[in-house]
Amino acid sequence: MAARHGTNRPSKKVLFVSAELAPFSKVGGLGDVAASLPKALLKCGVDVRVVTPAWPGVMDKVRDAGYKVFTFPQKVTASYAWRVVEATVNQVDVDGVPTYFLEAPEYGGDVYPWDVNAWTVRPYAIFCMHALDLRRAVDWEPEIYHCHDWTSAFLSCALAWHKSYGQLSAKSVMTLHNVAHQGMFPRGVFLEESGLDASCFNMWQLEFYGQVNLLKGAIIASTALTTVSPRYAWEIQTYESTQALAPVIYANRGKLHGILNGIDYDYWNPAADPMLPECYSVSSLDRRAASRAKLIENTPFDPSYDGPIVVCVSRLVEQKGFDIILPALKQLDSLGAKFIFLGSGHRWIEDRLRQAASEHRDSLCFFPGYNEPLSHLMYAGGDIYLMPSLFEPCGLSQMIAMRYGAVPVVREVGGLIDTVRDADCDGGGNGFTFITYDTQGMLWSLRRAIERYANKKAWNKIRLRGMQEDFSWNRSAKLYRDLYRSI
Ligand code: ADP
Ligand code: GLC
Repeated sequence: MAARHGTNRPSKKVLFVSAELAPFSKVGGLGDVAASLPKALLKCGVDVRVVTPAWPGVMDKVRDAGYKVFTFPQKVTASYAWRVVEATVNQVDVDGVPTYFLEAPEYGGDVYPWDVNAWTVRPYAIFCMHALDLRRAVDWEPEIYHCHDWTSAFLSCALAWHKSYGQLSAKSVMTLHNVAHQGMFPRGVFLEESGLDASCFNMWQLEFYGQVNLLKGAIIASTALTTVSPRYAWEIQTYESTQALAPVIYANRGKLHGILNGIDYDYWNPAADPMLPECYSVSSLDRRAASRAKLIENTPFDPSYDGPIVVCVSRLVEQKGFDIILPALKQLDSLGAKFIFLGSGHRWIEDRLRQAASEHRDSLCFFPGYNEPLSHLMYAGGDIYLMPSLFEPCGLSQMIAMRYGAVPVVREVGGLIDTVRDADCDGGGNGFTFITYDTQGMLWSLRRAIERYANKKAWNKIRLRGMQEDFSWNRSAKLYRDLYRSI
C-alpha cells in the first residue's frame, strides 16, 4: 500500500529522470537538485525514485563510495534507429531513495554533448525510453515522470506523441533549470529513428524555426511545468535569455510554477563538513579561520594576509558573468582584495584567468577544473562570493556561500534576486547587489563589499544574516509534493 504521511491522501509514485546526479555525475546545480530534492520529497511522504545513466566512471564512484549495488536480471530496452538498445539496471539505495543507474554502451560519452545534433541527442532519447521501460524491469509503475531540462525532454514528448508510449496513463512534470539549453537541431532522420509521430513536427508542437526543439516539445506536452525560482518563472515569459522560447512559455504559463531550489542541509553544513579542517557554526565563527588559512596555503598569497578574499566557484561560461568579470581584472591591484577562481568550461575564459593569475600572482589565483573538496574550502575560507550572472535560473552557489559565511556580491537577476538582499538598501541585507550588466556596476557593489569588510561589526551582521537564512528544501519540497497531488 502507498505510504501515508500525516494525510489521508496516498503519496504519488514519482520517477526523477535526470542526466546528472550528485555526487556521481554532477556538472552543476541540476545534479545537486536531482540528488537533494528526492531526499527531501521522501521525507514529505512522496514515493520517489531516480533514474540516471551510468556515464563512464559512475559505477566505479558508486562502488568506491561503498554503496551496495543490486543488478536486476531483466534489462530495459528501447527501440531506436531500427534496432533494440538494451541497458543493465543497477539499483542503489542513496539516502533512502531507490536510484537506478543504467549501463549501456550508448552511455559512453560525456554527461552533455559539445554539439547538439540528431546524432548526439541519441543517448538522451534512448535514456528516456529506458526510463519509460523501467517499470517492467523493476515492477514499480510511476504515476509521474519528473524530467529535468532538455536531456530528459524527449520523455514528455514520447508520452504525448510516440506510438509505443502514448497509451501510458502516467503524467510528466518538466522542470526548467536553464532555458538557454533546449536540445534544438536540424530534423534529419530524428523522427523516423526515434519513432515520434512525424505529425508532431509542426509549430504548435515539436518544431521551432524549422528545427526540432525538444524543450519546446516538453513545455507543450508536459502536464505541469516548474522552474527553479519565482523570479525566473517571470523572466522566462519575457526574456531574451530563453533564445526566443519566451512566447511558448508565456502561452503555457497557466501550468508554470516557480519553486525556489533548496540545498542539501546535511551535505552543505559547515558544522559537520568533513572536507573542512575545522567545522564551525554561527556560534563558533572564529573556527572559520582554519579554512581561511588552509585556503591561503593552496595559493601563492602571503600567509599573513588578513584582508578580504573574494572567491568564485563556477562553470566558466558566459551565463556566469565572465564578460564583465574579465575586464575588471585589469583593476585588480587597486581593489584591496585577493581573488580565487575555481572552474572549468570555455577555453577562452580559462586562458584569460590563467593569464591574469600569472600577471597578478599576489592578488589572483585560478584553479582550473572541477574540485569538490576545494570548492568547500573556498566557501568556508572566502569572505566575499562573486556571482555577477548575466542570467541565473536559481543559483545554488550563492546559497551555499551564505550558509558557509561568505557574503555574496550578485547581479539582480533570476534566483539571485529571490535569495540575496542588498545590505545598503533595507538594513536587513545579506549581500551586495547591482542591476546593470556591466563591469562598472559589478565593481560598484564589489567595492562596497570590500569597504564594509573593514568594519568587522557591520560585516559580521551581514554574514550572520546570510548564515541564518533557511535555504533548505523544507518549504519547496512541500510545494512539489502538493503539485504532484494536484495533477
Ligand atoms: P549552475 O548549475 O548553473 O552551474 P549553480 O549555482 O546552481 O550553477 O550550481 C553550481 C554547483 O556546482 C554548486 O554546487 C557549485 O559548488 C558546483 N561547482 C561549479 N563549478 C565547480 C567546480 N569547478 N568545482 C567544484 N564544484 C563546482
Ligand atoms: C541550472 C541553472 C542554475 C540552477 C541549477 C539548478 O544549472 O543555471 O541557476 O541553480 O540549474 O536548478
